[in-house]
Amino acid sequence: MTKRNESFDFPSTFRWGTATSAHQVEGQQTNNDWWATEQVGGYIYKDQRAGDACDWWRHAESDFERMAAMHLNTHRLSIEWSRIQPQPDKWSEEALLRYREMLEMLHDRGIEPMVTLHHFTNPLWMAVLGGWENENSPKWFETYVRKVVSTLGDLVNLWCTINEPMVLLVRGYLLGNWPPHQRSILSLYQAGLNMAQAHVAAYHAIHEINPGAQVGLAKHMDVWSPHRDWIPTDHLVARLVNRITNHVILDALTKGEVRLLGRRFIQLENAVDTLDWLGINYYQRYRVGMKIRNILRTIFPKLPADIFYHGTKPGYQKGPGTWGEIHAEGLFDTLRSVTRYNLPIYITENGIPDKDDVHRPRFILTHLHQLWKAIQQGIPVRGYYHWSLVDNFEWGEGYNPEFRFGLFGVDFETQERIPRTSGELYAQICKYNSISQELITEYDPELLPQLFPQQSTA
Ligand code: GAL
Repeated sequence: MTKRNESFDFPSTFRWGTATSAHQVEGQQTNNDWWATEQVGGYIYKDQRAGDACDWWRHAESDFERMAAMHLNTHRLSIEWSRIQPQPDKWSEEALLRYREMLEMLHDRGIEPMVTLHHFTNPLWMAVLGGWENENSPKWFETYVRKVVSTLGDLVNLWCTINEPMVLLVRGYLLGNWPPHQRSILSLYQAGLNMAQAHVAAYHAIHEINPGAQVGLAKHMDVWSPHRDWIPTDHLVARLVNRITNHVILDALTKGEVRLLGRRFIQLENAVDTLDWLGINYYQRYRVGMKIRNILRTIFPKLPADIFYHGTKPGYQKGPGTWGEIHAEGLFDTLRSVTRYNLPIYITENGIPDKDDVHRPRFILTHLHQLWKAIQQGIPVRGYYHWSLVDNFEWGEGYNPEFRFGLFGVDFETQERIPRTSGELYAQICKYNSISQELITEYDPELLPQLFPQQSTA
């Protein structure tokens, strides 16, 4: 009989946390570009506004208490640029003080903060000046980062410069459903270059102020699979989309250049090795391919150029709306695909929209099992941040009940927190630094044969 594996144990230094972002939880944001979009209408589910969100700007403490009770030893939160620098020539000492208070509250509870400096929102003044398309934007970002790090650096060692630059670029500059609501490849390219330069400037500035700091970035990584296995062009599209959306930015910030088809396409000054760690936000898999018939139709036009397929496959579990397939193995594959960068890794986000908490317990168990497998194979994953601690304002989905990510539910009328089973389960995993058979038996016994196959054959 083979030796039984009784539990999946994580390294003793492993960090367990949750992730949030300022605009999504703090409330009373009135000075950034998302606030401006909320005023316009037409872009957010039922024209909702973030409003009080989870009320963290006034009362974060009780949620920090919840983290401590869950045995978390880290939390990823973001700082709102427009609060710190409400005008180009004005700093808010009051806002800096409030963030200091929040960071101290976390430390007091044994929770190490990871701080994101840019999580989708721009100050209004910056947006008005052209946002990331303005050639001065890297400098503006650096100035803000210097202020934050020189004021709060004694409380933070893990800095995340920018959250999901590619998502912001695609939604803000190609699809146009997020601010700044553009649809232009040229603008996307310009904004992308400036964001990369902003990261580089921030990286060097943080190290100058605090040489021991660990600076990284949170990269959204989807798994892209060919829509039809037997069609070579579907494979080609999948590879191309994977390369562009998942790797271009990481290439730029590790090698200082981007090569496409063997040619240097972009070169970035001072960008070589400007990541001390890599953050992966992993959620889903998409199928992509090419609608060959439609290509012919565009050659003999009149019909719209609907050339590419982007979606999910029938029979696979998927999230709401345009959300992709829930695919735990994709986390393992993603981790393997980034070993080429040779960096310590944090899962800076991973979660599922699931208001009724029907799927989340299994989601957590299966994804953490894949994570454990990756660590067993020597992939240096240092921590995991579940998205999210509490339900919150989900960008274009607003407070759409289909898009609730919290380990705790939130009643946004009363600010009441509603414990979910998945939160209990996650707390157990964090407490014991391990996923045991007993835990699986308690929370999802049907998973036992999948996670412990040797038990059924013994
Ligand atoms: C990420 C984003 C988060 C959150 C999450 C859930 O892309 O960084 O802010 O919205 O998705 O959709």
